[in-house]
Amino acid sequence: MARLVIVSNRVPDVSDGSAPRAGGLVVGLADALKPGSLWFGWSGRQNQGRSETVHSMEAAGVTYATIDLAEPDYRAYYLGFSNSTLWPLFHMMPSYVTFDRAEYAAYKAVNEQFAQALTCLLQPDDLVWIHDYQLLGVAAALRKLGVRNRIGFFLHIPFPAPALFALLPPADELLEALLAHDLLGFQTAQDQEHFLAALLAHGIAAQDGEVRRGGSVTRSIVVPVGIDVEEFRRLAGRAVRRVEARRMVESLAGRALMISADRADYTKGLPARFDAYERFLASYPEQRRRISFLQVAAPSREEVEKYKILRDELDYKAGAINGKFSDFDWVPLRYITRAAGRGLLAGLFRVSRIGLVTPLRDGMNLVGMEYIAAQEEVDPGVLILSRFAGAAGLLPEALQVNPYDIDMVAAAINTAMSMSLEERKERHAALLAHARTHDASAYSRSFIAELNRAL
Ligand code: F6P
Repeated sequence: MARLVIVSNRVPDVSDGSAPRAGGLVVGLADALKPGSLWFGWSGRQNQGRSETVHSMEAAGVTYATIDLAEPDYRAYYLGFSNSTLWPLFHMMPSYVTFDRAEYAAYKAVNEQFAQALTCLLQPDDLVWIHDYQLLGVAAALRKLGVRNRIGFFLHIPFPAPALFALLPPADELLEALLAHDLLGFQTAQDQEHFLAALLAHGIAAQDGEVRRGGSVTRSIVVPVGIDVEEFRRLAGRAVRRVEARRMVESLAGRALMISADRADYTKGLPARFDAYERFLASYPEQRRRISFLQVAAPSREEVEKYKILRDELDYKAGAINGKFSDFDWVPLRYITRAAGRGLLAGLFRVSRIGLVTPLRDGMNLVGMEYIAAQEEVDPGVLILSRFAGAAGLLPEALQVNPYDIDMVAAAINTAMSMSLEERKERHAALLAHARTHDASAYSRSFIAELNRAL
């Protein structure tokens, strides 16, 4: 069997020699990563100049190979073109986009640096699977270096509507770069449609999601990323007995807990969510002292200006809500700006009556699936989910909302608070079945089977 080579901007930290800690991509690829596989990417470190020096570590039979980034590249490639241009544009938030030619040049140079370092590690039969928007140009750079291996790419974030994609000055060049892959994977049918429409606007027609030009073929597929449902259920079962979860329950004094857990990112819709919660407290006064809302917001990309602005806005809104509605013995919002471990979150999800997941736009969003997996079947909570998360298409029994409509979100919280046990059970059973069907192993197996099939 061919060796699998994963390429992603971030590589799991295995510096203590043990298997990587579970996170989105680690869980998504767990089934595919066999002893002998290679995972290549950025070390998370910056140094003086650009270098192709590869650092290798082994854990559980998998080799993790990384390169450092030069400090100016970290700024221009990572903070700049990746996270100030592509990230907001692909999430269809054009007012957040900045574009700088020098940053784009650095992005291409880093993608070439990745390719250069990778060629030295590749064997002729390796299957190469590249992940996400930071690395759109790696395959094209590999092809220029003469690499003929099968190369697949998966986009974890949305592909924007073609009119928005066209705003990107190097739009054409990036489409060409994507066609250097044998296989392109998208989270949803809409993402694939947007990509094919962007191609068409660029004068390239696809047939059945497939582009043939000269001797080369690029196929596109829809394959949603998922979680390991059983593993998360076990985690929640263990975590709920931990002292933190018990302390949480005690502190509620019989009130219902509503939980949200996100990276502190403007795409996650936190300010609108706080507004919706405030609207709920104002519009349904009878519910006020019956609920407590916990928002965990893990710091992210703090050197990007828009993220700093978000942080200030949330601090202000959280203070305003608590100042206005708190009582001597009740605080409506608990707002934590630290990351919480997966185990703790799983336990908190299990004891929460409502999971509130309202991104303005999201590639998939696995928090909703984790919330579903964490629930106990005898008394499950209710998932409120943005219709603009990729997961919405897979989870129709969630209470789906438009996150921009704060009255709608407020009404959904009220509905969730008063939903009968019977309805909660029915919805949860259906949602759990969907999460199981579209789980992590279905994701990696489907993608790799298609990559193996690529002509
Ligand atoms: O899921 C999207 C994503 O951008 C990943 O590619 C990335 O690793 C993760 O979110 C966290 O962001 P960052 O790597 O910028 O901290």
